[in-house]
Amino acid sequence: MTFAITQTTKAIGAEVTGIGPDGLIDDDSIVATISDALESRGVLIFRGLDLEPETQVAFCQRFGGLDYSEGHHPVPGIYRVTRDATKSSAAEYMKGTFHWHIDGCTPLHGEPPQKATVLSARAVADSGGDTEFASTYAAYEALTEDEKEQFASLRVLHSLEASQRLVYPDPTPEQVKGWRARPTSVHPLVWTHRSGRKSLLLSAHADHIVGMDANESRALLDELMDRATKHDLVYRHQWSVGDTVIWDNTGVMHRASPYPAGSPREMLRTTIFGNEPIQ
Ligand SMILES: [Fe+2]
Repeated sequence: MTFAITQTTKAIGAEVTGIGPDGLIDDDSIVATISDALESRGVLIFRGLDLEPETQVAFCQRFGGLDYSEGHHPVPGIYRVTRDATKSSAAEYMKGTFHWHIDGCTPLHGEPPQKATVLSARAVADSGGDTEFASTYAAYEALTEDEKEQFASLRVLHSLEASQRLVYPDPTPEQVKGWRARPTSVHPLVWTHRSGRKSLLLSAHADHIVGMDANESRALLDELMDRATKHDLVYRHQWSVGDTVIWDNTGVMHRASPYPAGSPREMLRTTIFGNEPIQ
C-alpha cells in the first residue's frame, strides 16, 4: 500500500494510509509531509496503526519538546486518559473533556498553548467516547466580512472557572476557590498566527469578552461556538483499538462525547509543547 493522505471532510481532517510505525520515526520526508498536512488539515487519522507507547513518544519528539509531567503510565511522556479511577488518580477530571476546548488557554506562567496532541486508542468505550474536532481556521473563514472587522479588536478573558462551571454547575465554595487560584488569561478573539492565517479562538474556558455587557458577551460567545461547531466544520472520530490521531491544537478545538465513569476506554496521550504565543 503506498503512502497517501486523503481528505476526510472539506473543512478538516485527513486520513493517512500506507505508513507503519517505523516510517513515522525514520523517514524524514514522511515526517515533513505529515507536518505540512497537520498544518493544512488540522487533524490526521492513522487507523489501526497499533503504535507502541515508546514509538508514539519517539514520533512526537520529531515535532518538538514533549510534556513529560506525571502521566499515570510507566512510559515517560505518555499520559493515560481514562475515567477508570483504578488506573488514574485524574479520572474524575476527564468530565472536563466533554466540552469544546483548546488545550493551554489558561497557562500557569503565560506559556503558549500546546502545538499538537496525539491520542492512541488502547481500549474503547461501549457507548460514547468519540472525539470531535472543529477547525478554528474554518470558523474564522465562515464569518462575514463585517464580523471579521467587528471582531478584530475584541479580547476575551479565559478562566478555568468558566470551563469548570460547565462540569460542576453548583460548585462548593472550596471548588470555586481552587479554580480561582489559577491565573486567568486575556487573549484576542481572533488569533493571527505567524503563518498569517487567522483563527477564531473559542473554548469552554472563554469566560467573557472584555468590556462587553455580560449577557451580550455570553450570547455572542455561545453563538460563535454554535456556528464554529456546526456539522460541516467538524470531524468526528469513532475509535477502534489501535487507531492514532494527531491534531494541531493551535487551529482545532476538540471534545470527547460523554462516556461513563469506570468505562474501559483508555487513550494514550502525548503532548507537544507550543512555541507560538496567541496574538
Ligand atoms: Fe483537551
